[in-house]
Amino acid sequence: MRKGLQWRTIRQSQFQLRRPMHSKTPKSKVSADVRAKLEAQASKVMKNAHAPYSNFHVGAAILLTNGKIFSGCNVENASYGMTNCAERTAIFTAVAELGPKIEIEAVAVTNDHGVACSPCGACRQVIYEFGPDATVFFQGANGPKQAHITELLPEGFRLK
Ligand code: THU
Repeated sequence: MRKGLQWRTIRQSQFQLRRPMHSKTPKSKVSADVRAKLEAQASKVMKNAHAPYSNFHVGAAILLTNGKIFSGCNVENASYGMTNCAERTAIFTAVAELGPKIEIEAVAVTNDHGVACSPCGACRQVIYEFGPDATVFFQGANGPKQAHITELLPEGFRLK
């Protein structure tokens, strides 16, 4: 009985991963030009990554609703858990520069291996904090992908 219920729950959530025809998830307003600019900036800053342990260099660029762009790379540490991902570096840099009222419109992520690389769980939560309506551009398993942050992080945590 319990097993049957659990199976239905899993199937339902798998179904929701696909974008339904009349999805309420907003389509990105980010133009192809702006997307390309974000990806170019992410690729540029990726070269500054400190990644001697994974040898996996990642770059991220964020577009704010005020039109400004910030970028960041991953910064690893000999104490592996202290590593900061490229996405969070970019977001924290923007907060340090402009303060906590920033609103993220889009995020682009690139890596130097050309492999699938979507933001990790921690970064999804941080993106959600400053961009509950953000579009995320990343390399998926079958090529470039874009997703609304709530597709990547359903029911993100908020205190207000
Ligand atoms: N990494 C990022 O910077 N962003 C991602 O979206 C995925 C993973 C970094 C963390 C670590 O330095 C390296 O990639 C390997 O996990």
